[in-house]
Amino acid sequence: MTTSTHESQHDGDRDLRILRIDASGRRRESVTRQLGDAFVGHLQQRYPHAQVTVRDVADGLPFVDEAWIKANFTSEDQRDARQRTLLEVSDSLVRELQQTDIVVIGVPVYNFGVPAALKAWIDLVARAGLTFRYTEQGPVGLLNGRKVYLLLASGGVPVGSEIDFASRYLRHVLGFLGLREIEIIAADGLATGGPTVLDRALRETLASAAQLAAEYQHRAA
Ligand SMILES: Cc1cc2nc3c(=O)[nH]c(=O)nc-3n(C[C@H](O)[C@H](O)[C@H](O)COP(=O)(O)O)c2cc1C
Repeated sequence: MTTSTHESQHDGDRDLRILRIDASGRRRESVTRQLGDAFVGHLQQRYPHAQVTVRDVADGLPFVDEAWIKANFTSEDQRDARQRTLLEVSDSLVRELQQTDIVVIGVPVYNFGVPAALKAWIDLVARAGLTFRYTEQGPVGLLNGRKVYLLLASGGVPVGSEIDFASRYLRHVLGFLGLREIEIIAADGLATGGPTVLDRALRETLASAAQLAAEYQHRAA
């Protein structure tokens, strides 16, 4: 599992914090990674002191299993040392979400859904008491206030279509955690649409990053 954080040395106003999640099994020719590079690269140009955390879930994350589930449902003060260790990866992933302003997720469509590695990440960050909680009115997400960008690529599935389970699922589950401000940039239909699909998605990615940079400047002013 790769995670790298480039902390800012800047000690003025709090710097923009970006969490980048990559999920493509491809490293060299990945479209979602290319869009991620463009998006985050643009923001880093505008904000050289931005704090960027990269979480490459394609390097592998544990799946939840019986012991993990038991540890998760044991109250924090009752957990033994082994249970605390079992939850460490999940705890770090949750912290990464709690300590960011922007979440950028590369979403390759695999078999009409999200890659298993990205689903493993979702299973590890959906934690009752940490990222959502149950109330008398039903579950409430706890990650409000962060903006999410989904950089999606598909060979044929059009975003927003009946068979777009990937973005619909992510919108729902991230919304469940309180992440309701979601923008989707799609290079959808790469296999049929040719290079213009990628060109258009790259232009949209840069335009979104520029808009975010301007919003952030406005907020920081
Ligand atoms: C294992 C696998 C499954 C895929 N399944 C689908 C699919 O169900 N529908 C689709 O439109 N494209 C599918 N594709 C195509 C990918 O979505 C497309 O190649 C996309 O660019 C992958 O993202 P990446 O370039 O970041 O790796 C699949 C690709 C792979 C490798």
